[in-house]
Order: sequence, then structure tokens, then C-alpha cells
Amino acid sequence: MTATVEFEAVDVNSEIGLMSVPRHVAIIMDGNGRWAQSRGLPRTEGHRRGVKTLREAVKHAQKRGISYLTLFSFSSENWSRPQQEVSFLMALLRRFVHDDLKELIKANVRVRVIGSKENLDKSLLTLLNDAELKTAHCTGLVLVIAFNYGARDEYVRAVRKLAARVEAGELKAADIGEDDVSACLDTSDLPDPDLIVRTGGEQRLSNFLLWQAAYAEFYFAPTPWPEFDSGAFDDALLAFSNRDRRYGGLSSDATGT
Ligand code: FPP
Repeated sequence: MTATVEFEAVDVNSEIGLMSVPRHVAIIMDGNGRWAQSRGLPRTEGHRRGVKTLREAVKHAQKRGISYLTLFSFSSENWSRPQQEVSFLMALLRRFVHDDLKELIKANVRVRVIGSKENLDKSLLTLLNDAELKTAHCTGLVLVIAFNYGARDEYVRAVRKLAARVEAGELKAADIGEDDVSACLDTSDLPDPDLIVRTGGEQRLSNFLLWQAAYAEFYFAPTPWPEFDSGAFDDALLAFSNRDRRYGGLSSDATGT
């Protein structure tokens, strides 16, 4: 199935002049609240519309042959929002997993959840674990939901794991390398993002995938998330395909003199 999707994707992609597709796209879905407020609607309406966009983004990522799509759905700092908004976001996540899981399995989508599991509501935790388990056999798009996620929190948890291994005598501090750190992050089984998109006009990372973003390309869209349709997604992909990724080296056409 994966090979077929990729083969078809090459065809549909060349139609819009897309010559290379990022393997892993990560998106900061920003601008929901402002989108709603500018229409005289409650901020929560923006989040509700955001779920519609999310579903379309998953389908579009599959169409383009993207292998990993990470979506920042709730940060470890979002708990400081008004209780009513936090509860609404929790309810949306529950409803999404509950209502969409069958459809995701049918579409061969594997769900992964990253973020801290500490102090999470038991039933929500069960639901998220269940989504991972029930889609573990899927071989198509990997949909990574960053929930209760903060990069610094992830990093602290990783440092604690490494320190415990040093304390237990399993590892020498001087032998710790980048791979050891990566292996202790929530994303240990995922490739680094190639493209990080932020919608809604702000240009910052907001504690998202700080370690993993080392060589990512960035794309900031003015479009608020509820309006980030497949055309806007394609604009981000086209911008990516025109970037010259050098990873600290020189481009292939540089002479070196
Ligand atoms: C940022 O917009 C967005 C969020 C904090 C939540 C994003 C959540 C969803 C799109 C839906 C829930 C997720 C799932 C997986 C079902 P903002 O509120 O900060 O917007 P603003 O900057 O305009 O205030």
C-alpha cells in the first residue's frame, strides 16, 4: 500500500510542480482563537473549525506522499488558558480520537502521541494509548499528535532518563552522545522534521521540537489554521521544494574555492 501511495503521489505532485516532498512535516496549528474572534465568535469555535482543517490536512498529506505529519494540538503551557477553553480542547481531542479512529485505520494511518503522560486524566490516557495500539499495524502515514507537549519538558525527562542510567552504572557520562539523547526523547522512533509550518502569522517555535528542528526548514503562513486548506498546504510544500538544504555543508553546485 505504501509503495502505491508514493507512486501515485509522484504523479499528482508533478501536476503542481512539486519535485521533492518532505518526509516529515510538523505543524503549529496557530490562529484558531483570532480567526473566531475576528468573526465575533467564541475562541472555541476556532478550535472546532480547526479539527475540520486537521482532517483535511491528514488527507492532503497522504495525497502528497508525506510519511510523517506531526500536529501540535496542546502544549504543556496551554494549561494556563481559561479552564473553559482547556476543557473544550480536551473534549475535542477525545471526540476526534473516538469518532475518527475507524476512519484512520481504514486509511492505514498510524497514530503516535508525543508529550508528557504524567498527571493526565486516566480515561484520556487510555484513549490515547488505545489509538496507538489499534493503529500500530498501519503502514501508511504516521500521524503524530503532540499533546501536553513542550520541548523543554521533553528534554528534562530525557536528561532524567540518562542520569538514571549513569547512576545505575550502565552508561558513562563522558560517553553520552547525540544518539543517546535522541533515543530518550518522545520522538525516538521518528525521523526529524524536514519542514516545520506555523500558521496564524506568528514567527516563533513556542517550545516545539527544539532538538528535532536542528535542520528543519521553516515556513510561516499568515493564514489562520481554520483557513489552512490544501492550497495553502501546497504553498508550504512548494516553498520547501525550492529550498537548498545544506546541513552545515556546501550546496552541490558550490565550487569550494
Ligand atoms: C492555537 O491557536 C491552537 C491550539 C492551542 C489548539 C489546536 C487544536 C486543534 C486544532 C484541535 C484539537 C486537536 C486535535 C488533535 C483534535 P490559538 O488558540 O493559540 O489561536 P490564537 O493565536 O489566534 O489565539
